Amino acid sequence: MNYLVTGAAGFIGSHLCKKLIRDGAHIVALDAFTDFYSRSIKENNIQSLVNHPHFELIPADILEIELNEIMDKVDVVFHFAAQPGVRTSWGTDFSIYTKNNIDATQKLLEAAKTSKLKKFIYASSSSVYGLSPKLPMTETSTLHPYSPYGVTKLAAENLCFLYYKNYGIPCVSLRFFTVYGPGQRPDMAFHKFFKSILLGEEITVFGDGQQTRDFTFIDDIIWANLSSIENGRAGENYNLGGGTRKKLADIIPVLEEICQRKTKIRYVAGQKGDVRHTFAEIQKAKDDLKYTPKIALEEGLRSEWDWIQTINTEKI
Ligand SMILES: NC(=O)c1ccc[n+]([C@@H]2O[C@H](COP(=O)([O-])OP(=O)(O)OC[C@H]3O[C@@H](n4cnc5c(N)ncnc54)[C@H](O)[C@@H]3O)[C@@H](O)[C@H]2O)c1
Repeated sequence: MNYLVTGAAGFIGSHLCKKLIRDGAHIVALDAFTDFYSRSIKENNIQSLVNHPHFELIPADILEIELNEIMDKVDVVFHFAAQPGVRTSWGTDFSIYTKNNIDATQKLLEAAKTSKLKKFIYASSSSVYGLSPKLPMTETSTLHPYSPYGVTKLAAENLCFLYYKNYGIPCVSLRFFTVYGPGQRPDMAFHKFFKSILLGEEITVFGDGQQTRDFTFIDDIIWANLSSIENGRAGENYNLGGGTRKKLADIIPVLEEICQRKTKIRYVAGQKGDVRHTFAEIQKAKDDLKYTPKIALEEGLRSEWDWIQTINTEKI
């Protein structure tokens, strides 16, 4: 099959591309190499793919290229391109989020209207739930995003739904809960914590450390995305959590154990837009996608630590 992967040079997109290429697929890989984090990290993510005959890289912004021709030659779209990051989505930078997360999604969906896609899979987020009063978060929970980023992810999810309803584009939205593992984005907590430990610097924790997150290992996320091609029901949303909800403060001793080093923690004020808890109810993904997260938190963290030690932290 032929695939379009947007955000292909990013953390999750590059893992998906590597798996698809291993499985013999042809990929049109679209990425604008935005400056949210260093371009060299993204280039590194896809280094092993760029010369592969089945990997066609288009280093361009979705909003600036003609998409119809691309849509006509692919069977499945994985739409992962976005401006990530909750804390940076305030103020004048919000327009970066509306452009990359909402406008770009709308443009892709417009281009998909006349194509014969088997599936259009959208990378949504737990951030659509906001400060959910009810835990675990189910797909039917109230959606009140708590950050401007979350608002844009929900808007794009709604666009996917309405293009499904009006034009029959077989959209499936997958709500990822804090993804981690080798290649994790440099702004994300585990990546920053490991890097601090490696460099002998103190760890900065926002808030009191009692906030919880449902952490999902990258391989489990990729597995669920692939399963969605056949098993995701068009027009539906699915939570993808890792089944390992933990307090941030309780994870630091686990990191120390993995790294075999002690660390100092500095607690600073909580950040605007950060939710207190995330916790995914994943029964729907279990039923439809046959999804069962397989990688336990400690095992996943060990593989992220192994990876962190191989990269040039000076560049990050
Ligand atoms: N990482 C997580 O824990 C997490 C959690 C929930 C949802 N998500 C979603 O998953 C997707 C991938 O996240 P990630 O962590 O890999 O982020 P990432 O920043 O590593 O990857 C996103 C990629 O999209 C590209 N991009 C952004 N705007 C673009 C545009 N207009 N045109 C072309 N390319 C563009 C960027 O250059 C980047 O390489 C995003 O949609 C994100 O919102 C991620």
